[in-house]
Amino acid sequence: MTTATPTASQTRVWDLFVRVFHWSLVLSVVLAAASGFLLESRILLLHISAGLAAAALIVARIVWGFTGTTYARFAEFVPAPADIRGHLAGGSRHLGHNPLGALMVLALIVLVLALAVTGLVVLGGVDKSGPMAPWVSYALGSGVLGLHEALAFGILALAALHFAGVVFESRRSQENLARAMVTGVKERRPGDHIAPARRAHPALAVAAIAVLAAGGWAVTASQAARPVPGLPVATLDATYKAACSECHIAYNPSLLPAAAWLGIMAGLKDHFGENATVSAAEAETITAWLTANAAETADTKLAHRLALRITEPPFAITEQRYWKRLHTEIPDAVFANRAVGAQSNCAACHADAEQGRFSPFAIDLPKETLK
Ligand code: HEC
Ligand code: HEC
Repeated sequence: MTTATPTASQTRVWDLFVRVFHWSLVLSVVLAAASGFLLESRILLLHISAGLAAAALIVARIVWGFTGTTYARFAEFVPAPADIRGHLAGGSRHLGHNPLGALMVLALIVLVLALAVTGLVVLGGVDKSGPMAPWVSYALGSGVLGLHEALAFGILALAALHFAGVVFESRRSQENLARAMVTGVKERRPGDHIAPARRAHPALAVAAIAVLAAGGWAVTASQAARPVPGLPVATLDATYKAACSECHIAYNPSLLPAAAWLGIMAGLKDHFGENATVSAAEAETITAWLTANAAETADTKLAHRLALRITEPPFAITEQRYWKRLHTEIPDAVFANRAVGAQSNCAACHADAEQGRFSPFAIDLPKETLK
């Protein structure tokens, strides 16, 4: 970022913080939008990081709005209705944000924060991760996902409008406003609306941001330590594990509804072409445990989107359309690779398969399959 020294006819309008903030926000919003609309598990972490970075930038910007240099201050640019009318009627040129530009800044601030909050609600309810996980049900999380997406379209629309406004104003005022956001200086002209100078308080800003960051960290850590309701049973019953993990992994009971487990247990004689019968006592123990911890008891995405919809024999997870859609990009050769063996060998790629979590953050193809 070049810091030009203003000449006699120029004014330093955008301080270094505002300029670094502005272009970092552009970068993080673009990254968050691109990774969000692609909707793939393996870039979800990038999406969340970019979104949180945008939110953190906004919080720092809000602090700077009370502690920064003249044109960074909310007090300087938050417009009254009369200012907007005056601007629309062609009033004097503003060196800082003009009233419409100021409304845009405020709308962007609100939207980025709303996107961060709704994003954390979705992460908590749908992926059972993050600080909201102890509080949000799957139903709430997936409902809020629609709102999160609508807000995302909203911010893209605002960004487009902002861009158009910058082009329009740059032409009208014969001054490249995008370049001014790089160099920080603007020409001073007769009749310009010039704000009374205010001193920045960087030490105060740093202290306030440090307090907010520490508070955010403490809240996140305390919430992450709370139990998350609705997670599948994490420890597999010993009888079940011994009898049912001989030919494939011991599936977490949340992968099928109770009725499907009853069906599987009733048909062990011809179990996908194999004889998988167990003793009557074992069958009783296993059936009771599987049905008591079946998909109905879990509040995960897998349970809602996949398991609870499996109502017909052969009760195979990998035969479901939703499962196929999730795994459509994985070549057959990967499943056939010795490190995987079969589509149903979930644990080869999902480190948390046995716990029934299937978190998007625990997916890794075995390295033998990557060449
Ligand atoms: C003798 C080998 C064998 C044993 C023992 C066995 N299974 Fe299976 N099971 C299979 C085969 C083969 C398939 C179908 C192929 C596949 O999906 O890998 C299968 C598939 C399944 C599936 C569907 C998985 C999918 O593809 O979506 C479930 C659920 C299942 N078995 C449950 C059980 C339970 C419960 C037990 C213990 C009572 C058990 N199995 C024991 C061989 C076995
Ligand atoms: C060969 C590796 C592999 C195997 C085997 C596999 N998966 Fe996956 N699974 C993946 C990959 C890769 C993704 C991410 C797809 C994407 O980019 O959205 C995924 C995504 C998922 C998701 C979505 C996670 C999320 O929230 O984004 C679920 C649920 C899932 N798999 C369930 C299963 C189940 C159940 C099995 C076993 C019956 C299984 N998978 C077997 C590789 C595998």
